Amino acid sequence: MRPVRSVVCRELGEPELLEVTDRDPAPCGPGQVRIRVRAAGLNYVDALFVRGGYQIQPPLPFVPGSELAGEITEIGSEVGSAGNDGDGAWQVGDRVLASIGLGAFADEVLVPASVPIRIPEALSFGQAATIGQSYATAWFTLTRRTVVEPDEWVLVLGAAGGLGLAMLDVARCLGARTIAAASGPDRLRLCIERGAHDVVDYSTDELRLRVREITGGGADVAVDPVGGPLAEQALRSLTNGGRLMVLGFASGDIPRLPANQILLRNRSVLGVDWGAWAMAHPEDNRVLFDEVLGAVEEHRLHPVEPTAYPLDQAGRALRDLLERRVVGKACLTTD
Ligand SMILES: NC(=O)c1ccc[n+]([C@@H]2O[C@H](COP(=O)([O-])OP(=O)(O)OC[C@H]3O[C@@H](n4cnc5c(N)ncnc54)[C@H](OP(=O)(O)O)[C@@H]3O)[C@@H](O)[C@H]2O)c1
Repeated sequence: MRPVRSVVCRELGEPELLEVTDRDPAPCGPGQVRIRVRAAGLNYVDALFVRGGYQIQPPLPFVPGSELAGEITEIGSEVGSAGNDGDGAWQVGDRVLASIGLGAFADEVLVPASVPIRIPEALSFGQAATIGQSYATAWFTLTRRTVVEPDEWVLVLGAAGGLGLAMLDVARCLGARTIAAASGPDRLRLCIERGAHDVVDYSTDELRLRVREITGGGADVAVDPVGGPLAEQALRSLTNGGRLMVLGFASGDIPRLPANQILLRNRSVLGVDWGAWAMAHPEDNRVLFDEVLGAVEEHRLHPVEPTAYPLDQAGRALRDLLERRVVGKACLTTD
């Protein structure tokens, strides 16, 4: 069998420290399937793992990468004949995606047979490899942690980022009106192309005032994966009963929010941790993926094609992500 190529983190630090190595493949154990990885999603959280800045710190060395898509190439014993998703048993050649926490930056993985999810023909490997962290999170945010009603105003910060574009698409799919907030005309243009009803450039305009102007009273929901001073601006931009959804701190700055601004207008601040929920509730997460992939098949959701980097350029790709040079999603490819 050919060697397995992986991106390895041997010491915590900057992405340039990542190494690319080859090793002998492990046997496909009972209950496992082998997946030939075609694309692995590139996410901000991967850089956090590599820098040692994530809440979980795996022992060194480790292979980063939390999500992937590819084809099943081998099925271990004891996988069973019933299949795992109601569409029949796994077959060699099935196109699947998998969310695995760590280990996706490799050209092959072994996973329990219950983990892969069959992907529709409509999705490329790149789209499928990047749909979990972006679309599953967005769907979880807007249909589970809060329920967005048609015609509500949804403000999305970091809207041209991977999560932001998915959030705009999901909010639009649910019938909401969207305001995309991002920095610079190119990013805002992309958000309009992706269906945003209005845009705010938070590098030049005061977010709270522009949102109040656009909505005539305030946003119903604000989605914040950026943090820093923008979080308080987003909170202050909410109307009566508005909900601030806290997803992450891409700015590197964890904000402190004034409690009086939560009290006023009966606002709520809600945390969103899709990964922890998905691990604790795998069956519910599978239902959530069915909803997302069903909406993709019905052309109600339109995931972007990610920017592709070769697997052995993982360090450069993460550097581009950290320095805001990536617009939309990015992935590593193995071909
Ligand atoms: N809670 C959850 O369940 C969950 C799930 C997935 C991701 N996340 C988190 O969500 C955050 C965003 O993820 P993502 O995949 O959308 O990342 P991304 O593609 O890198 O987008 C982040 C956006 O944040 C904005 N930003 C503002 N200040 C920044 C700075 N100093 N450095 C980098 N970006 C900055 C950038 O937009 P502008 O340049 O336009 O400002 C960028 O487009 C991350 O913190 C990630 O860990 C959380």
